[in-house]
Amino acid sequence: MRRSQATAVSMVTKPVSHRQGKIAGLAVVVMAAGLGKRMCSKLGKVLHPVAGQAMVLYSVGLGLRVAGDRVAVVVGHQADQVRHVIDHAPSGKSGSSPVAIVEQREQLGTGHAVLQSRPVFAAGSQSAPSRYLILNGDTPLLQETTVRELLRVHEAESATVTILTAVLADASGYGRVVRARSGERAVSRIVEDRDADAEEQAIREINVGTYVVDGEFLFNALEQLDPSNAQGEYYLTDIIRLAEQSGKGVAAVVLDNPEEGLGVNTRRQLAEAEQVVRQQIRDRWLDAGVTMIDPSSVWIDATVTVGKDTVLYPNVTLEGMTVIGEDCVLRSSVRLKDCTVGAGVEILDHCVCADSHIEDGAHVGPFVHLRPGVVVRKKAKVGNFVEMKKTDLGEGSKANHLSYLGDAIIGKGVNIGAGTITCNYDGVRKSQTVIGDGVFLGSDTQLIAPVTVGAGAIIAAGTTVTEDVPADALGIGRAPQVNRQGWAARRRALQTDAIRETGHVKQDTKSTRLSKKQASLFKSNQAKKRR
Ligand code: UD1
Ligand code: CA
Repeated sequence: MRRSQATAVSMVTKPVSHRQGKIAGLAVVVMAAGLGKRMCSKLGKVLHPVAGQAMVLYSVGLGLRVAGDRVAVVVGHQADQVRHVIDHAPSGKSGSSPVAIVEQREQLGTGHAVLQSRPVFAAGSQSAPSRYLILNGDTPLLQETTVRELLRVHEAESATVTILTAVLADASGYGRVVRARSGERAVSRIVEDRDADAEEQAIREINVGTYVVDGEFLFNALEQLDPSNAQGEYYLTDIIRLAEQSGKGVAAVVLDNPEEGLGVNTRRQLAEAEQVVRQQIRDRWLDAGVTMIDPSSVWIDATVTVGKDTVLYPNVTLEGMTVIGEDCVLRSSVRLKDCTVGAGVEILDHCVCADSHIEDGAHVGPFVHLRPGVVVRKKAKVGNFVEMKKTDLGEGSKANHLSYLGDAIIGKGVNIGAGTITCNYDGVRKSQTVIGDGVFLGSDTQLIAPVTVGAGAIIAAGTTVTEDVPADALGIGRAPQVNRQGWAARRRALQTDAIRETGHVKQDTKSTRLSKKQASLFKSNQAKKRR
């Protein structure tokens, strides 16, 4: 970003405190009370996710990084939901959340919103903040470095108010920055889109909605706001005119990259923000040593972590609180939500996993569905059309083909045969299956839970396990087999005869049964032969 031409070019070296860490004496106010009518949504605007994270959390997170524990969020529409989202955010865990929530009961404008935060900062043992950073809750692309530069300029120029601006090709909808016509072209005021005359509407420099304001000035100015404008609202932006009129310094920083100033008011702008944030996230992980075969097709939520030297194939989607270790390979079309994946894990194509843990060196896929509560222990294997739920698959165990494993605890080195089913639901209750270490389950085993198979036991293929099986025993439960000598040949002969007689049944018929007519013909033929 570059500094406004409006301000004196005083070369001040950057105070370290502005480049990183929390800035002393700074408080942050995030405005998040509006409904966002232009979104045409039942969901409050700031709750809409961008890269899987509610929009408001971008501003809140930024606030916490620069001001530490002095962050207030002004809520109104769907206040409880906004509060919940903030309390449960990774940065502000419930209970220990350093974020103060202030309610704005009626949305009377951005100036009125900020005024609601006054009691938060007046209370407590800390001295009143020396300056405030005010953020819109709908500008998720804003970068921390930009905010720090804004704070630096504010101080370097001893300004009372410092605003962030951007020059856009299409400025419609935004507040326009009106500068003096001559001289240093200082900022004199901001005029909202709906209040702007034709000349003002032609201005392409817009107010991003990010402000640094001196503590002493802010609330006094807010009290002087007058809602006589097109929307009948108390505009925060009017404090710029008030500062200018009382001879206080107004500084401005113009964004180099105007995209950063995008305000999300419509679904189109939401989609635009999503694109930009997704790209930022991919770039961050590429820079951190993650390989992506086709980056543009990879979707990583803002809350996800990916380890070094992990390879992501096309169409991988990583959501929520997913954490991926180092040296993993995730093949095409894998979707993980809230999963932890250890190091050196291979997940083959087309797997969907939620709320599960996959430990180091495990293999998953292709076509695996892990529903919540699954643990795949070290070097275990789950493959080809296996569904699991609330199941712990022990170290080195294998469930490689066509199985449903639900509510099960499975030990180490277990072989789950193809087509094994845990029958965990009797229509009323869910019950558990316990399988000891080293058990061998033959193919097509059904385990009627609750049931336990002791360590080292073998279950014969095709067994329906209804009783517990002791350790090292053979469990077999299937009807004894009977072989009838020559039966198949006799049946074929019978069919062939019948067909020859009637001509009705085609040679390639799949039916092995005789019709009544065929059967009676056959009987009379036999009788003739005997005669
Ligand atoms: C605002 C600015 C405009 C700027 C634009 C940048 C004002 C008057 N205008 O306009 O100059 O170009 O942002 O994106 O500030 N909010 C409340 N309480 C309210 C009203 C709004 O908390 O009573 C919150 C909203 O939830 C939102 C933010 O304030 O997060 C901005 O409100 P919005 O209605 O989107 O303002 P804009 O019209 O975009
Ligand atoms: Ca807005």
